Amino acid sequence: VATPAASVGHHGPVVRPTLAPDLRAELEEVLGPRGLVTDPDVVAVHTVDWTGRFRGSSPALVRPASTGEVAGVIEVCRRHGVSVVPQGGNTGLVGGSVPMGGEVVLALGRIDDIGPVSGLDGQVTVGAGATLGALAAVAREHGLRPPVDLAARETATLGGMVATNAGGLHVVRYGPMRHHLAGYEAVTGTGAVLSHLTGLVKDNTGYDLGGLLCGSEGTLGVLTRVRVRLLPDPAARAVGLVGFEALDAAVAAVAAWRRSLEGLEAAEIVLRDGVELVLATSGDRDPFDRPWPVYVLVEVAGDDDPAPAFADALAATDGLGDAVVTSEPGPRARLWAIREEHTTAINALGAPHKLDVTLPLDAFAAFCVEVPRLVTSVVPEARTWLFGHVGDGNVHVNVTGLAPDDDRVDEAVLELVAGAGGSISAEHGIGRAKRRWLHLNRTPAEIAAFVAIKRALDPDGILNPGVLL
Ligand code: FAD
Ligand code: MLT
Ligand code: ZN
Repeated sequence: VATPAASVGHHGPVVRPTLAPDLRAELEEVLGPRGLVTDPDVVAVHTVDWTGRFRGSSPALVRPASTGEVAGVIEVCRRHGVSVVPQGGNTGLVGGSVPMGGEVVLALGRIDDIGPVSGLDGQVTVGAGATLGALAAVAREHGLRPPVDLAARETATLGGMVATNAGGLHVVRYGPMRHHLAGYEAVTGTGAVLSHLTGLVKDNTGYDLGGLLCGSEGTLGVLTRVRVRLLPDPAARAVGLVGFEALDAAVAAVAAWRRSLEGLEAAEIVLRDGVELVLATSGDRDPFDRPWPVYVLVEVAGDDDPAPAFADALAATDGLGDAVVTSEPGPRARLWAIREEHTTAINALGAPHKLDVTLPLDAFAAFCVEVPRLVTSVVPEARTWLFGHVGDGNVHVNVTGLAPDDDRVDEAVLELVAGAGGSISAEHGIGRAKRRWLHLNRTPAEIAAFVAIKRALDPDGILNPGVLL
């Protein structure tokens, strides 16, 4: 049995756990020579999360190449009482994808096949370890695209995106990952393979187990394949960066555009300090000749040029300061970079505490004004960075200048969110980072139901212990 890691918690002394010889032999038998990695330097790469805030340790990285091998690994680990952390691209932002208790890391990267795209309904079955970028490339050949897009597209996997019910940049129009899941295959904590990849639109034959696995953060099953619906890729796009003097005017404008702009594909908010940070990092030029306190990045798409309708909507917008609009691919990408580069630019300041929350739209602007004050009232030297998916009421509260395991700001902010009727996790999940505060959004009866479901599918609690529950 693996010895427990000494680095449970955020930053501890690094003690490398080792695999017991009989466990090693059984895993080798299931996985073959390429599937079991114990080189500590290779394993270490998989024990730190994307932000650098969560640093764990593990005796081994297992890299199964098929659903059967995943089932074999789970069966062996269960028998030995060893827990497992499923890992896709390790771009998760709530500490759910790394072994904080000395677990074995089960990486899905070798199960990355992308099946044929169905010409009739645009569905495709994808190995859980395939990246979003790889799926997008295949979809493009068919004039289609994946239904969810996010800045970590070259690394995030379809398995991870289903496991977190990823949101991303186009939820305002298409909804999150769950809305596009047409089938799944997964191995539960007992080693049982559940498979329902029919892709039938109408299929009322009992519990929606795919829907349950979606957003379960690796706690109920290891997804090995998912069937997703691809979407038509509109022929024309326009992107605008719109400057506002005030947050409430920006929120009101987005609400108006949602009603008036049929092809609204994205409505993303960034603030002046974040834009300055990104531009300073990239060296790119400010698209405006003066600063605006608040910016909304808008994307509109359609088969016909959406720019005229977009221009009409902008002309009718109250409180708008200035706008830069373009239909050209290069300039569009440069405007998007101002928004997408926030995550990397903030991370470069030191591992942030990432609080991804949703507010009711009528509380959004007041929350964004209040939260930096609240943060400095708790930790005066901390700094707050806000950006996010304003079209969904989703703001990413990033706080730098905090010790990794200092949770005081997290608690204060999440309590403020819940008090305002919001969600403490809009799209990243609960993971380890927010587990202590699940009760702010879920009743004791709901959490008891979660525990009962967990026990049914993972009776020994070997799948991602300490995540979510
Ligand atoms: P991982 O990080 O490896 O894992 C995430 C969770 O899913 C863990 O709990 C893990 O155990 C579990 N898991 C992974 N694979 C499986 C599997 N096959 N079976 C069962 N459980 C599994 N997220 C958004 O929602 N919207 C965004 O806009 C967004 N933008 C991002 C931008 C950047 C730059 C970065 C770094 C991250 C961003 N994220 C965003 C977060 C992250 O990309 C998503 O949560 C993504 O879905 C994680 O995919 P992954 O393959 O990296 O999963
Ligand atoms: C985003 O919207 O860019 C992501 O959710 C990543 C982040 O929150 O940093
Ligand atoms: Zn986001």
